[in-house]
Amino acid sequence: MRRFPVAIHGKVVAITGASSGIGEATARHLAAEGAAVVLGARRIDRLYRLVAEIETAGGRAAATRVDVIEPDDLRALVDLAVERFGRLDVLVGNAGISRIGPVADLDVAGWSAMVDVNVKGILHGIAAAMPIFRGQGSGHLVTVVSTAGLKIVPTQAVYAGTKNAVRTLLEGLRQESTDGVLRTTSISPGYVRTEFIDHAVDDPAVREQVRQNMAELGIDPVAVARAIAFAIDQPEDVEIGDLTIRPTRQG
Ligand SMILES: NC(=O)c1ccc[n+]([C@@H]2O[C@H](COP(=O)([O-])OP(=O)(O)OC[C@H]3O[C@@H](n4cnc5c(N)ncnc54)[C@H](OP(=O)(O)O)[C@@H]3O)[C@@H](O)[C@H]2O)c1
Repeated sequence: MRRFPVAIHGKVVAITGASSGIGEATARHLAAEGAAVVLGARRIDRLYRLVAEIETAGGRAAATRVDVIEPDDLRALVDLAVERFGRLDVLVGNAGISRIGPVADLDVAGWSAMVDVNVKGILHGIAAAMPIFRGQGSGHLVTVVSTAGLKIVPTQAVYAGTKNAVRTLLEGLRQESTDGVLRTTSISPGYVRTEFIDHAVDDPAVREQVRQNMAELGIDPVAVARAIAFAIDQPEDVEIGDLTIRPTRQG
């Protein structure tokens, strides 16, 4: 009986937003499955702690400080993968933020921040990883989008727009990449229990309400990590395009 899924074991996977939530769970899960993981986020202390934990457990990991709004930081992340582990097989574009509120609130700064992190951050990752993927003759882009883009609800219009921009981008890229070199996957989580909501709302009362909903309904981030692993764990000629993973009770 094989111990590791063949397609994950030995792969080199860079993950943005690996300092908490889905990214952190994905790093742990993939490392336990035998991947070398290369972690990026702004909270570098957390990343170093995670690297130490993975290495203590016998895994392979490295980290660098990444702000996805800086194209150079994404280049440093993929370069670290190549320097430390010889190649880059997968980039998981997971870093993301949300600012919840009706469009009529005109939170222009919040809109800009979401576009910068959620859309431009993914583009910067693509720009950094594509030359490596093309040079190697293979590569896989996984992005974490959201069910917010599938079921549009009030107060999340701009967030949903940024996630659907990425969905559209990946579909266009997929159609441009039928030479077998590049695989693309969009993962759409529903409510997941992470720190995400802590940064999404300023009003303490609203934040507490959303937090409670999340605690009651949200699924464990490792569920999303397993979905990402499933997409990676496929033969080279199989592409998982879209995966939706939400709480059973989510409307
Ligand atoms: N939780 C949910 O219910 C849910 C549902 C659907 C989709 N998602 C998506 O899942 C992804 C991960 O979110 P999460 O739920 O795991 O939330 P989280 O715990 O808040 O994690 C967000 C991650 O993004 C990183 N990040 C934020 N801004 C960044 C920047 N400018 N540069 C680099 N990294 C940045 C954060 O790290 P630093 O602060 O250390 O930089 C953190 O590691 C996001 O794209 C989110 O849109 C979440």
